[in-house]
Parts: sequence; structure tokens; C-alpha cells
Amino acid sequence: MLPRIDFTTTQAYRYLTDHFINVNVYSIKDFFAQDPERYNKFSVLFNDILLDYSKNRITDETLALLMQLARECELEQAIDAMFKGEKINETEGREVLHTALRNLSSTPVEVDGTDVMPQVRAVLARMKNFSARVIGGDWKGFTGKEITDVVNIGIGGSDLGPVMVTEALKAYRTRLNVHFVSNVDGTHIAETLKPLNPETTLFLVASKTFTTQETMANAESAKAWFLKAGAAAGDVAKHFAALSTNEKGVAAFGIDTANMFEFWDWVGGRYSLWSAIGLSIALAIGFDNFEKLLAGAHAADNHFKTASFEDNIPVILAMLGVWYNNFFDAESHAILPYDQYLHRFAAYFQQGDMESNGKYVDRNGNRVDYETGPIIWGEPGTNGQHAFYQLIHQGTKLIPCDFIAPAVSHNPIGNHHQLLLSNFFAQTEALMNGKSEGEVIAELTEQGKSEPEIERLKNFKVFEGNRPTNSFLVKKVTPETLGTLIAFYEHKIFVQGIIWNVFSFDQWGVELGKQLANKILPELKAEGEVESHDSSTNGLINQYKAWR
Ligand code: F6P
Repeated sequence: MLPRIDFTTTQAYRYLTDHFINVNVYSIKDFFAQDPERYNKFSVLFNDILLDYSKNRITDETLALLMQLARECELEQAIDAMFKGEKINETEGREVLHTALRNLSSTPVEVDGTDVMPQVRAVLARMKNFSARVIGGDWKGFTGKEITDVVNIGIGGSDLGPVMVTEALKAYRTRLNVHFVSNVDGTHIAETLKPLNPETTLFLVASKTFTTQETMANAESAKAWFLKAGAAAGDVAKHFAALSTNEKGVAAFGIDTANMFEFWDWVGGRYSLWSAIGLSIALAIGFDNFEKLLAGAHAADNHFKTASFEDNIPVILAMLGVWYNNFFDAESHAILPYDQYLHRFAAYFQQGDMESNGKYVDRNGNRVDYETGPIIWGEPGTNGQHAFYQLIHQGTKLIPCDFIAPAVSHNPIGNHHQLLLSNFFAQTEALMNGKSEGEVIAELTEQGKSEPEIERLKNFKVFEGNRPTNSFLVKKVTPETLGTLIAFYEHKIFVQGIIWNVFSFDQWGVELGKQLANKILPELKAEGEVESHDSSTNGLINQYKAWR
């Protein structure tokens, strides 16, 4: 069982409340001026990943108190409980063991007294064999042709992770074109299938439950498209595989269970890219690279399990997030990768973080009276700079940001990478230092502006600065570094859930919308006006019916 500690009642929280008042009057710039060792103190190098968190509104004391808070909230015991396979997803009565999926050590992982590692390894072996056959052209379609295109049909955790990783690791792609269909909007599947040939297309139906409405609708449409091309029902086995925990559902849909890649209840949907759900990744980049992704994550797991909190990257990230969320009242957190390949990274952690910690009920079942999970958002730099950075620099909201960049590009064209990285380095410096009134006046004077003009313009051009950032500099975006980075963020989310005393591995909040959609669906099919809802919902439905 996870601890039930209201972090606002701890001694560390009380100290932090007082400490916040002291820290708040200083700027990060002041802290650097006071301490030449600041960067060395507040940065960690882990394999090919450097985390610099020195540009935060923290002192040595802040960090010590945040770590005390983590200890008072029994984080160590909670980490232990997760890795040991205790049923810490208490509202669903499940273990949380995505770490077992990437456990490349020989250590057993037990669920209800049984070591799950043999089954994990067996599925990985099947994925290896299958991906080698498809990539190598030995797996043939119904007319004897090689597979050229793979379409993963899934949504949420059965889509976002594979999409993000296959995009991030495009530099490692095999000969296969891998596509993703998630939205129930028919446009998504229609546009994806338009250029494809049913004879050379393989569908992966990815759904933990195999009941998700969107995925089932898309899978049925894919099957209809395939059969329309002249294939017989028996040919489905050559073109459809399932990634699921639900064998009965897979069989009922008509997929040969020999083509089913299994995973288990103890894998949360948004933590499932490491499981059979990652088959699209293995097909896109080859199984060896998929294994390297697992190895990178496994290295992060060991770090998370063994490093002291003071040196522990996920714990540091998490506690800094708590500092801004609960003391500075920051509402959101931006993830800003300076790498085009990582363009879905923030979108992936939107689900990872917000579906995990977007909860207002604590582990005792009571409404919390403090803030829990932040809004996660972001886009790759430098595009974001020309879109929303204005607000980060001069807006009224405090937005802590994570900047992520590789030192080495997969595409070293001209001086593009130096241009990109000069922006990456400049932004965190600018966000911290800002621009003072004196600097603005000197700049405008230099430009030959008159005194009245300077007076009129100066306030608009001042930047307060003091905006906190973390910088991740990775050597290169490789399967290993990506695996590590993803696992760091996963564990950060876990730590924050422990502090905020919420259950991070359920998602009841997604249910209500699904239930209501199921109620409305027959009303849309029926003739005549609806009157069963509020006047707004009735009005919208009836106008739709009038126009369709
Ligand atoms: O959005 C809710 C959710 O349950 C997610 O947690 C999950 O990733 C997604 O739906 C898809 O579920 P499934 O893999 O069962 O189709």
C-alpha cells in the first residue's frame, strides 16, 4: 500500500513555506553571482545525458528542504513498492510494472508470487522474430508480396508512445513505412489508407482492452477496406496482428490469436510503449534498436532506484516541479525540445503526466485543498520561439520550462545545428537574465533614439527575467538516450503523484465522456429531435440533425 501523507502537513512543507518568502526576493542571476560553484552543484551527468538545473529559483537550502519533503512523504518506500510489484494502482487493484518490461537484468519480478520475466522475454522473442520476418520480406501478404506499409491502429497510450518514438528515431528507420491511425474521425483512416496497397499493408490493432470505441471502429473499417480489395476472410491472418491483453476480444474481432502479441494488466496504457504495444516501433527501427530503447530505460530505472535523492534526476525534476506548482502557483510546465525528431515528445507527456496526476481526489478518497498535476504543453524550438515564447518571456504567468537538445545532429547540414543550438543556449540565458531598464536605455541610445522616444518605449522592452528552466543536453538522440529520457519523465510523474498523494495509475476521469457518448450515439442514429438533455446539448444535436 502506498503512504497516505498530506504533504502540506509535513515539517518540510512548513519550512518551505517560510523559505519561499526569502527565496522569492532574489533572482536566479543573484544566485549565480553569489556562488561560482552553482552550475557544478546543480547539474548531473548520466551517461550521454546532462541535466543542468542551476537556472532555477532555488538555493542549497531549497533543495535540501525539497528532499526532506520527499523523505517525509515516504518516497523511498513508494519506489520500493512499485519495483517490487505491490498493487500500488489501488483503485484498479493492479501492480505497476512497466519497469519489468525493460528489465534486461536476470532479476526476477514477481506478481502474486510468480516471476513474470519468462513471459516478458517470451513476448519479446516473438516480437523479434515477427519484426525480422516482416522487415526481411519473409512475411508475405495474401498475393505473395512483401509488406511495405504498417498501420498501427490505437489511441491514447496505444498510439502516442509509438508515434513519438518512431518520429524521434526516424534516423534509424527500416525499409517499412509505418503509419498511425488514432482518431475516430473517418478522415484519419481514409487519408492514411488512400496511398496504400491492401496487398502490401499490415495492420497492428493496438488496444490494451480491445474494447476502445475509436480503435475498434478504425479496425473494422481497415478490415472492410482490406476485404474489399478481393482478399478472403482467411487472408486477414496475413494482414492483421493484435497487441492486447484481451485474447477473447482479439479472437472475436477475427484476428488469429497466433498473431496476438500479449501484454498484461500490470502495464498501464500510457506506460505501455515498452510492451507489445511497441511492435510498431520494432518494425519501424528494427528489433535491435527497440531493445536499445529498453536498455536505456532500464539504465534510468536503476538510477532511479539506487541514486540518492540529491543526485536522482527524476526526483530532482519532480521536486522542482512541486516547488513551482505548490509554492509559486505555476499552472503549467512547458517541454521544449530543440530537435525536430522530438516533435511529439511534449504531446506524449501530455497524456503521460496529465492522465496520471490530473486528479483532485487524494489517496484517502478526499478532495485535495492544494494543486496537483500541472498542464503540460510544448512544441519544438525554434518554432515555439516564433509562436508562444513572448508569453513565457513577458507574460504574467510563471512557466517553468524544460529545454532538451542533442549536441550531435543526425542531419549535419551546413550550420543548421549551430544555429539551432545557439537559440537553445540563448533562450535559457535570456529567460534567466532578462533585460534591465539600464540595458534597454543604453541600447536605444546607441540606436540614436531621442530621450522622449526612449521614455515612451523603454517599459515595453524591459524583460524581468528570473524565469526558471531546466536544460537537458544529450549527446545524440539515439534509442538508448531516448529510452533513458522517457523513463526519467515517467519516474518524475510517479514521484509527484506520491507527493501530491494521488493515485497516478488510474484514469477514471476519462470515463464520463465515454459513457455520455455511448448514450448519445443511438440518439444520433434515430430520427426526430432530441429533448433528453439540457437546452444547449439538445440545441447542438438538433442543429446537427437538421444539417446532416
Ligand atoms: O484515454 C483513456 C485510455 O484508457 C488510456 O489510458 C489508454 O491509453 C487509452 O484509453 C487506450 O486504451 P486501450 O489501449 O485499451 O485501447
